[in-house]
Amino acid sequence: MQYAKLGWSNIKISRIALGGMSYGSKEPWMAPKEIAFKIIKKGLDLGINFIDTADVYSDGESEKIIGEAIRGYDREEIIIGSKVGLEFGKGLNNSGLSRKRLYSQLEGSLHRLNTDYIDIYQIHRWDYNTDLDEFLSTLSQFVKDGKVRYLGATSIYAFQIQRLWDAAVYKGYEKLVYYSPRYNLAYREEERETIPLCRELNIAIAPYSPLARGFLTGKYKRNETPNTVRYLTDKYLPTGYFKPEDFDVVENLEEIAKQKGVKPAVLALAWLFNKPYITTVLLGATKPEHLDDAVQALDIRLTDEEMKLLEKPYKPHELMGPTKSPLAP
Ligand SMILES: NC(=O)c1ccc[n+]([C@@H]2O[C@H](COP(=O)([O-])OP(=O)(O)OC[C@H]3O[C@@H](n4cnc5c(N)ncnc54)[C@H](OP(=O)(O)O)[C@@H]3O)[C@@H](O)[C@H]2O)c1
Repeated sequence: MQYAKLGWSNIKISRIALGGMSYGSKEPWMAPKEIAFKIIKKGLDLGINFIDTADVYSDGESEKIIGEAIRGYDREEIIIGSKVGLEFGKGLNNSGLSRKRLYSQLEGSLHRLNTDYIDIYQIHRWDYNTDLDEFLSTLSQFVKDGKVRYLGATSIYAFQIQRLWDAAVYKGYEKLVYYSPRYNLAYREEERETIPLCRELNIAIAPYSPLARGFLTGKYKRNETPNTVRYLTDKYLPTGYFKPEDFDVVENLEEIAKQKGVKPAVLALAWLFNKPYITTVLLGATKPEHLDDAVQALDIRLTDEEMKLLEKPYKPHELMGPTKSPLAP
């Protein structure tokens, strides 16, 4: 395994992370508990020390599976990331980052994960209806109380990262150490703003959907009606990819992968690992053997020319990921 520094902090995090959205029974494409246990055990045995999840994944089942799977392992050797903010459960206040919501969701996550603390607690999108001081002071209090070690965010705009950073600097709140963007060969919009900003502030960058929800594995062909379980049941896969320009990217990837004698999935992951600014990659493994491909990718060194060739067909996309501001024209 390879390890990187978690942004400005000095903790070492594996460059491959286990993506917990794959665990559970809410959707048919997910790995049920028994398979998830095997993936987690294999990952930990390979030296992976970071598991990413969220309160909302499979309605809390992902956190429960992870909590159960890591029993018997040394908790101090594992880094758990979880998230809060998306709609989960019932009631008028079942989403967002209000103080009331944050307290109840943190307690719920700790309980499901069967742990006393979460290492990287992330806001799961921006909450336009809660004042920044309310949620950042609450999250900072969690760190002071020892229930959270570090703060992170996922899919927000660069100006929001900067607002969080400035509030931390000028008001004494906790600083972000981790940002998780949607980032892969078929979606690179975050290269414009958030990635350079995070590099400047020394915030760790942890892409999610590194294989574009499976689109970059080569299993989907232009002009063929897809029939995989994930395509048929994950609404974000057909809406997120599958445009003609996305097929330009994947066909180019397949061609270069063939020349190099590796699978397209391996090369797509290697492209991310060869970016020096990528701290860790949140792998959406649904089978234990998917981890072998990620480990293989970690050892592939790509030349600047190969990196450029892989990137060549990409065309700018409409922004996807962050929630649009109600003030945006
Ligand atoms: N912060 C956020 O808002 C956010 C959003 C999305 C995801 N995430 C995080 O990122 C993680 C990964 O997301 P993702 O599921 O979209 O990731 P992904 O790795 O892009 O896609 C996973 C899919 O790719 C296929 N796959 C994975 N490894 C493979 C391999 N080696 N060979 C062939 N196919 C392979 C599987 O498809 P099949 O099942 O069809 O075989 C799997 O369902 C999540 O678990 C979660 O932790 C975060």
